Amino acid sequence: MKKIIIAIDGPAGSGKSTTAKLVAQQLGFLYIDTGAMYRAVTYMAIQNNLLDDTYSLTDDDKKAKITLSYENDCTKVSLNNEDVTEAIRNPEINANVSFVSAIGPIREEMIRQQREMGSRNGVVMEGRDIGTVVFPDADLKVFMVAALQTRAQRRFEELTLHGKKAALLDVMENLETRDSIDSSREVNPLMKAADAIEIDTTHVTIDNQVSLIVNLAKKKMELPDA
Ligand code: DC
Repeated sequence: MKKIIIAIDGPAGSGKSTTAKLVAQQLGFLYIDTGAMYRAVTYMAIQNNLLDDTYSLTDDDKKAKITLSYENDCTKVSLNNEDVTEAIRNPEINANVSFVSAIGPIREEMIRQQREMGSRNGVVMEGRDIGTVVFPDADLKVFMVAALQTRAQRRFEELTLHGKKAALLDVMENLETRDSIDSSREVNPLMKAADAIEIDTTHVTIDNQVSLIVNLAKKKMELPDA
């Protein structure tokens, strides 16, 4: 069977993670959440008081060693052997992650690690620049979008489910700010690749968007539809 690389990009709350996880599960592929990596670096910057000196995070002695593993439907994130899975979802990280991920040398290091992780193929990788920069030759590229209100509601429900307090308006404001920084930064901004298939998830069910992507993937893998 031909193993392929599937790139899924889009703004926060567009449904990338849920979709990418299920697609990977159905195809028996590796799932990689690259946002978790930028969140882990942001956590490290905050812990070490380096938000004013983010460039030093790429110094050899300060480099973040990030390991992603997938357990119980969740990406477990370890940073220099510390489990940061929960901590990287906190509001302080949401407030700073777009700023940290706009730094060129930090992106270069993350991209190097992501290419290494994806080199075995049979991978679903989600983020902002996977189809444009990390794997411009990905076999299948998907760009997911959804209305801001819908995305904010989804993130709000997710936070509540994890016992994290947040006001819907604050969540919406954070998404808007992050979208604006992520899309306008100079280095590798959030952008739809010319050859990506766009899916607006505002009114599509998760099952439908997953089977659409799985069937497109099967065509690329030269397998019959489900
Ligand atoms: O997917 P997420 O919301 O967990 O991502 C957190 C932040 O990380 C997002 O606001 C921008 C950044 N990011 C990025 O710049 N490039 C990626 N490939 C993935 C995430």
